[in-house]
Amino acid sequence: MKLALNNISMKFDDITAVDNLTVTINEGELVCLLGPSGCGKSTTLFMLAGLYKPSSGKLYFGEKLVNDIEPEDRGIGMVFQNYALYPHLSVLKNIMFPLKMAKVPKKEAEERAIEMAKLVQIEHLLDRKPKQLSGGQQQRVAIARALVKKPNLLLLDEPLSNLDARLRLEMREEIRRIQQEVGITTIFVTHDQEEAMSISDRILLMKDGKYQQYSPPQDMYDFPENAFVGMFMGSPPLNMIPVMLNEGSITIKDTEQSFPNPLTINQALSSSNEALLGVRAEDWTIAKDTSEIRLTALVELVERIGRDTLLSATIGRHSIRALVDPEFTIQPGDAVDLTIRNDRFHLFDAKTEANLGLKNE
Ligand SMILES: Nc1ncnc2c1ncn2[C@@H]1O[C@H](COP(=O)(O)OP(=O)(O)OP(=O)(O)O)[C@@H](O)[C@H]1O
Ligand SMILES: [Mg+2]
Repeated sequence: MKLALNNISMKFDDITAVDNLTVTINEGELVCLLGPSGCGKSTTLFMLAGLYKPSSGKLYFGEKLVNDIEPEDRGIGMVFQNYALYPHLSVLKNIMFPLKMAKVPKKEAEERAIEMAKLVQIEHLLDRKPKQLSGGQQQRVAIARALVKKPNLLLLDEPLSNLDARLRLEMREEIRRIQQEVGITTIFVTHDQEEAMSISDRILLMKDGKYQQYSPPQDMYDFPENAFVGMFMGSPPLNMIPVMLNEGSITIKDTEQSFPNPLTINQALSSSNEALLGVRAEDWTIAKDTSEIRLTALVELVERIGRDTLLSATIGRHSIRALVDPEFTIQPGDAVDLTIRNDRFHLFDAKTEANLGLKNE
């Protein structure tokens, strides 16, 4: 089912939890709602679930306006962080519960519950009680229960945050597999950008209740529309260096260091000649003789992490972090000339934080 949020806002007294959000979610896609704590992710999900009624705006499921439709009439399945299983019921009875409420005959309900248990691979656990299950198994039960009524929309609110790191990785792949097998439109709330990157068709990134960007994960990483998006996606975070934009060149603020600007500046978005140069740690590399971009950095710390070497350095008085090939032997105290791979950098307006560079196709 396709969803549309048109100018949706949610106000609690003086707090605007969701501020004029407009977005369309395609049928069959898995969309992650991503953003820092308090940005309005759960509130958005609860409006989709019908647990909150938007203060303003229109919510459509397919062509149908659902603002006034009760949660139980929306055809949704929901999974929460804390599983919310019934402790005194067996796994089978937990999964059957929504069907029992809907007065589905017992035999049919049992068959459908077993079918769901197979889908989430817990058919060997049907007689156990929730407390006899691991966190990952409990979450599988919760997913089976959410899907047993064959909803048109699956809503998940931080479903993996109670699991340890390894189980999280396993379960996120499982959720993606189950979602694709069923083909159900799914909204998945998380504050973990890596989790969002790994499982979604698209990510909706929010901040302070406001839309920031809605893109496929790789686009969000490669083409952040503003500085917040650039900083939020990726680890270590995007390096941000204050610069001055002059005709055809970029000068690092408070230094004499500059280089020719290969990007076309979108003047409509530019409020002054002050900008932030955004460079991913992995896009720095040691300059060659032919490099047009060449910035001298003073190395403060050298850490070997896995395949790469992470340099903490300063350009002028601005701190940066760079992941470079360990073939270079670099010591703290060295001055190294860095360049930026394939002009892979961004320029953000210093005031509005909008990305000023036109997308390199
Ligand atoms: N029922 C409520 N009454 C008053 N304020 C609320 C209510 N629910 C949420 N808020 C406020 O609305 C804002 C958004 O909250 P929300 O729970 O949607 O954030 P979130 O993105 O899900 O955060 P988290 O990652 O911490 O779960 C917060 O400032 C929160 O304090
Ligand atoms: Mg939340």
